[in-house]
Amino acid sequence: MTMSEIGIGARERELRERAARVVPSGMYGHMTARDYAPSMPQYLSGGEGSRIWDADGREYIDYMCSWGPMVLGHRHRVVEAAAEAQRRQGDCLSGPGPVLVELAELFVATVPHADWAIFAKNGTDVTTLGLMVARAHTRKRAILAAAGSYHGAAPWCNPWPRGLLAEDKAHISYFRYDDLESAREAAAAVGDDLAGVIVTPFRHDAGHDQEEVDPAFARGLRALCDEAGAALILDDVRAGLRLDPGGSWEPIGVRPDLSAWGKAIGNGYPLSALVGSDTFRRAAERIFTTGSFWFSSVSMAASVATITTVQAERAHETMARIGRLLRDGIASQAAEHGVAIKQTGPVQLPNLSFDGDEHFERALVFADECARRGVFVHPSHNWFLSSAHTEDDVDRTLEAMGHAFARVSAELGTV
Ligand SMILES: Cc1ncc(COP(=O)(O)O)c(C=O)c1O
Repeated sequence: MTMSEIGIGARERELRERAARVVPSGMYGHMTARDYAPSMPQYLSGGEGSRIWDADGREYIDYMCSWGPMVLGHRHRVVEAAAEAQRRQGDCLSGPGPVLVELAELFVATVPHADWAIFAKNGTDVTTLGLMVARAHTRKRAILAAAGSYHGAAPWCNPWPRGLLAEDKAHISYFRYDDLESAREAAAAVGDDLAGVIVTPFRHDAGHDQEEVDPAFARGLRALCDEAGAALILDDVRAGLRLDPGGSWEPIGVRPDLSAWGKAIGNGYPLSALVGSDTFRRAAERIFTTGSFWFSSVSMAASVATITTVQAERAHETMARIGRLLRDGIASQAAEHGVAIKQTGPVQLPNLSFDGDEHFERALVFADECARRGVFVHPSHNWFLSSAHTEDDVDRTLEAMGHAFARVSAELGTV
């Protein structure tokens, strides 16, 4: 299929051609349109609530929410007002603003396992920081992680080998998610060198069906860390604020020692946080960490407004309600068209896969037809809801998805 045959607009085509000359592979990282369906735009020019617009002015209902950050929807009034008020006073100053203290207090008040907070910019900053604090506290080296879990793009956790050394992943060993026995075996293999276990709140590996956490597995990891004096690090970068403002394992009653937050905490403003318990405070004091932009106040003011609004408006409950409507609607449409699908993980972070679709052919056709009809969904990564999504959005989405299921069934048959 050539560029002129696919559903992208003239401006999008022009931008892609220009980028191909000056940007490595036209676009790097997770947002590359190479992983999208042909009609999905790479470039977006604006957003409002649950809507985004591409560079050609086409409107979409956005189910990627900037890949997580937009938990209250694009340009949320309260968040934008807080950011604007701070911007008028100053953002990147020669020292942190008072808002840093306010935000740290808010985290400590909101997240039951948190007694302190360090702020950075990206999720990778704070998952990496979690390892540093764990190692500084225990004076040990080994970290256990679930095979296939994504914790960022730093060398210790980057899933792709190019540009890395085997040594970058020295002292990281792997277990299977939801398989406590495999975690125990991995712990036994490192003997008395265990510094920490890093784990996502549920299994949300890209390209795979999601898997809810087995509470017994979470409790088992907690016990394993307690026995070894190691840190249990919850990587809540992707799910944080969508399931429970106190942390995604609060509903199952398992409290980590450290948790990493990013994405949603600033509703689009760049900010991440590592929070931890008193036991790890001394270690957090001993390590050196910083970044030129880590102290800028606009993101922190936006984060105070975001976390406060999520709690006041019970945004996670809205996302759960809308997510349930969407999931039920998708299930009945798929059944109507005789297309076998799976919907997995929490409804606030929907994940749709097609049976027998190893190479995502069905998912690509589905996402393509959705894009043509004004619905932005990724073919092989989980989606994200925001509290700006409404029943009306779901109705319009299902209308588009009905056509998408019909196209899948017409082009690739039912499974
Ligand atoms: C679970 C998880 N951890 C860490 C990260 C890394 O965050 P960032 O891309 O902001 O560095 C991500 C990003 O998708 C993530 O989903």
